Amino acid sequence: MTNQLHGTARALVAEGKGILAADESDGTIKKRFDTIGIESTEPNRRAYRDMLFTTPGIEDYISGVILFDETIRQSSLDGVPFPQLLVDRGIVPGIKVDIGAKPLALSDGETVTEGLDGLRGRLAEYRELGARFAKWRATYSIGEHRPSEYCVWTNAHALARYAALCQEAGIVPIVEPEVLQDGVHTIEQSSKATGRALQGVFTELHDQRVDLYGALLKPNMVLSGYDASDRAGVEEVARATLECFYRHVPAAVPGIVFLSGGQSDEDATAHLNAMNALGRHPWQLSFSYGRALQAPSLKAWGGDPANVEAGQRAFYHRAKMNGAARSGLYAPEMERQAASV
Ligand code: 13P
Repeated sequence: MTNQLHGTARALVAEGKGILAADESDGTIKKRFDTIGIESTEPNRRAYRDMLFTTPGIEDYISGVILFDETIRQSSLDGVPFPQLLVDRGIVPGIKVDIGAKPLALSDGETVTEGLDGLRGRLAEYRELGARFAKWRATYSIGEHRPSEYCVWTNAHALARYAALCQEAGIVPIVEPEVLQDGVHTIEQSSKATGRALQGVFTELHDQRVDLYGALLKPNMVLSGYDASDRAGVEEVARATLECFYRHVPAAVPGIVFLSGGQSDEDATAHLNAMNALGRHPWQLSFSYGRALQAPSLKAWGGDPANVEAGQRAFYHRAKMNGAARSGLYAPEMERQAASV
């Protein structure tokens, strides 16, 4: 079991590849569909995910896909269960298992992520359905006295309980502490908050006996707040993020798979690329993007079956750009070259 976990974790951060996060909950996918003016119905959600997962050639750049509870039970438009379709293409199916960030009792607006009750049974079922890795996301905000020690430790404890249950079930846990980058904070404040959250997480993972060689970390990058007036550039973000992770992430972790947060798709690619260009590093530095992989594709598709190919082209392009960023070989000119063909 142990070696299998290690093997799966390493496969998910194989050279040139990363993860597609397609695990939007019902509420989140509705928000995404609202932006293109289509209704979030079960057939529309299925058609959208079908478009993404059947894109020709993505297995060259996509190692795994995180699914939502509904999606792992759905089949492609050709009638193949989605997990099977992914496995047939050499892509590892994964599953989001938390049930969301909820108000943290007696706190001043901070959150704790829920979903531990009954998790052992749910993991066994998801494994039966084909999942070989899972995701649990905790969120923290930056502000005066934020994240609080209370928020840091309650979320760290829950993340580690989730991770231990995953490993017991033969599932690789992706541990996702996301320090939200909204607001006007400086990059130094982001680094401090991110480091604090990470330190809590790795302390709890250690205390709860989680095998780091069979787990992946999915963090935010260290950024100036999205509304800050003087925002750090690509090189500064890469250096600040690396410095923070060198201090707080053990080398036993096989890979750090960043989330994109509210970054533009091209920023997310450029930042990952700049970090890899400064390599080698103790861990693989990869992506587990939702919006930054999907946004152009969602727009090109627009809910119209006639646009499936256009949507797939857009998705393939972003996957390829991020694949290049895995080895520091991405350049913004590659965006324009692709656009002109
Ligand atoms: P974004 O890349 O859109 O932040 O999504 C990644 C994710 O899975 C958040 O939990």
